[in-house]
Amino acid sequence: NKAMAWSARFSEPVSDLVKRYTASVDFDKRMARFDIQGSLAHASMLAAVGVITEQDKADIERGMSQILDEIAQGQFQWLLDLEDVHLNIEKRLVELIGDAGKRLHTGRSRNDQVATDIRLWLRNEIDIALDLLAQMQRKLAELALAQADTILPGFTHLQVAQPVTFGHHLLAYAEMFQRDAERLQDCRKRVNRLPLGAAALAGTSYPIDREMVAKLLDFDDVCRNSLDAVSDRDFAIEFCAAAALIMTHISRFSEELVLWMSPRVGFIDLADRFCTGSSIMPQKKNPDVPELARGKTGRVNGHLIALLTLMKGQPLAYNKDNQEDKEGLFDSADTIRDTLTIFVDLISGIKVKPEAMRAAALQGFATATDLADYLVKKGLPFRDAHETVALAVRECEQLGCDLADLNLEQLQKFDSRIESDIFGVLTLEGSVASRKHIGGTAPERVRIEAQRILDRTQG
Ligand code: ARG
Repeated sequence: NKAMAWSARFSEPVSDLVKRYTASVDFDKRMARFDIQGSLAHASMLAAVGVITEQDKADIERGMSQILDEIAQGQFQWLLDLEDVHLNIEKRLVELIGDAGKRLHTGRSRNDQVATDIRLWLRNEIDIALDLLAQMQRKLAELALAQADTILPGFTHLQVAQPVTFGHHLLAYAEMFQRDAERLQDCRKRVNRLPLGAAALAGTSYPIDREMVAKLLDFDDVCRNSLDAVSDRDFAIEFCAAAALIMTHISRFSEELVLWMSPRVGFIDLADRFCTGSSIMPQKKNPDVPELARGKTGRVNGHLIALLTLMKGQPLAYNKDNQEDKEGLFDSADTIRDTLTIFVDLISGIKVKPEAMRAAALQGFATATDLADYLVKKGLPFRDAHETVALAVRECEQLGCDLADLNLEQLQKFDSRIESDIFGVLTLEGSVASRKHIGGTAPERVRIEAQRILDRTQG
């Protein structure tokens, strides 16, 4: 086991199983680009403060640039013996440039190195997710504009409640994705601080310039306590929490898409490219993508709990437990990235069936509340109006008709104040158009809000 950097201290090698058990290179090698970026900034700083020479720095830059090429071309040899991404790259650097490579790790530990790598990697993922969340909102706003006048039943308890516009319904999800974006922006502030300089846990006696490194790496600040810098992963937990909420919102949307596409409901159709057939039932077109997204929400929620649990028992400062932070974090980021990318396209492929929506809204007395509000405007206290309309609904149920199907004479039996202007109120269009305040479902309001989202997510 001579490859181990610390072999002089040890009298026997680890078994193959322990080697595999403790190694992380299989999954942390995906941070290689950021590991090198961090090393280059560290080397520049070491040269600037005179800990290494300008020649060392130039050699390190040359070696790292070759390593980047080797990785890009798939020629880099990742070795399990070298445990993780950091030692693999460092070993290759020494092979390529000799002593200058051995000087790179001056005033640094893998503990502050890995914390830096994760932050650089995660910052990049956050920026990608933010872009995707903006695209999602745009797609929803575009569809909402096109469907601002389309009426469907709004539901509570999965029972017809009041008519709403489909545009309004879609914009509810745009609001959720906007809050998800705000959460990520906020999380990014705490991700974007530099751990390097903390070294193993106590800092270093070299005359390092942490602010210079922070600037080179575009960090907004440096971590102010070395023990905290190498040990806490709360920034990753925050990201996992934000990712879990993104998936939760996607999952609710998916549930509705599945429901809407069910032949019994038939409100929409999804483009074929998001569906699959059945191996036995030829008639099937299944909404696999939304169902899988709903399913994948489970693993992303799970990663949040895994990371919280990983952290809760750890004394200061670094413990190897922290190596377990990566796979769940990576998977959360990959899952939201793939899911959002697919959904941006999926939304463009939604085919709306307004007739089915309208037919459903005409069942279930969706305008009962409008009738009660009408009576209130004629002077009835709301609770009495509520009771009066309940009696009218009961009558309709017995007759097998809708409120709007009753004639004026029938309606007046319930309250003599009802006049012929009632029919404007009992229609679906009248109902939604009257809710034109901020946050309301009226087509005119939907157009304003959709435009606001399009303006906000521009560019
Ligand atoms: N692979 C390790 C990790 O992911 C790097 C830090 C290792 N440090 C140590 N002292 N064992 O956390």
